[in-house]
Amino acid sequence: MTALRTALDTALDRTVLPGYSRIGYLVRRTSWPADDPRPDALRGRTAIVTGASSGLGKATALGLARLGATVRLAVRNLDKGRTALADIEREVPGAELVLDRCDVSDLEDVRRYAKELEAGQIHVLVHNAGVMPPKRALSPQGHELTLATHVLGPLLLTDLLRPKLAGGRVILIASGGMYTQQLPTEDPEYRNDPYRGATAYARSKRIQVALTPLLATRLAPDNITVATMHPGWSDTPGLTSSLPLFTKLTRPLLRTPAEGADTTVWLAATTPEPPTGKFWHDRQPRPTHYLARTQESPADRQHIWQYCLDATGL
Ligand SMILES: NC(=O)c1ccc[n+]([C@@H]2O[C@H](COP(=O)([O-])OP(=O)(O)OC[C@H]3O[C@@H](n4cnc5c(N)ncnc54)[C@H](OP(=O)(O)O)[C@@H]3O)[C@@H](O)[C@H]2O)c1
Repeated sequence: MTALRTALDTALDRTVLPGYSRIGYLVRRTSWPADDPRPDALRGRTAIVTGASSGLGKATALGLARLGATVRLAVRNLDKGRTALADIEREVPGAELVLDRCDVSDLEDVRRYAKELEAGQIHVLVHNAGVMPPKRALSPQGHELTLATHVLGPLLLTDLLRPKLAGGRVILIASGGMYTQQLPTEDPEYRNDPYRGATAYARSKRIQVALTPLLATRLAPDNITVATMHPGWSDTPGLTSSLPLFTKLTRPLLRTPAEGADTTVWLAATTPEPPTGKFWHDRQPRPTHYLARTQESPADRQHIWQYCLDATGL
């Protein structure tokens, strides 16, 4: 990037509204074409996308299928999954698509899914499934639902698939909302403070980002890389149902699902492989903190890491 482009890119990132919207995407996009993955970059490769029945997950599955990947759509609702699969097939005739059932918030279901997956390598695992419950809700194992969906299930699934993932890439979909939150070291299950869905969501996304370097270190012996990204604001069913007023007011500025999924697809397919353990947005590594009050210590990270390992039985 030229110095001017870098300065513009940084300004977009710090000013949030333009950067997270379509404006940021469209401005940055002008410097990308040479960097796009080859059209057949994922031919012969297999990818799993969780939460692929809707929004960004469906757009990610489509983007990976366009690059030739066999895509396994891991969904909790098979009817919605079938519709998404048919939509992708229409866009990419002949795409190799497989529909899998998995509720990633349910650790038992994650164990079943990992066990039932047939032999063969998984080259890309995208942890996209996401929720923002209006009231504090619990997973079947009694964990707060955003923690279970965004952190515990993905951690367990990654670890169980580790032999299949050797040499592959793991990508977690976080959110820029995590910038507002500190790592909830003393209360990862959100038991103490009055519950707010948006806060629970952002805290769990902060945990994803804080644990990324630790997960990268854990998986490095198997040459598995880990990337966490945030997609900006994209017009998806999830955004509309979680933040209806925000979606209504900002709709003309929101990214399309394909634009929001762009960096995920790029991280999955680009060569050379991006460095492991980083936090990405619009194809660039980004700082993990902008506010002094959200900083955590290595001991805090270790504490949450241990909590999650214990909670998942790893
Ligand atoms: N849209 C944005 O602007 C934005 C911004 C920042 C981050 N994100 C993140 O991007 C990801 C996708 O969000 P989206 O906006 O595309 O929302 P969405 O349209 O609601 O899609 C979320 C997907 O996750 C699935 N899901 C939820 N819980 C699941 C579970 N326990 N097991 C399996 N699948 C599950 C949903 O399945 P059902 O259809 O069965 O509910 C749905 O397919 C999320 O992680 C979200 O936090 C989105």
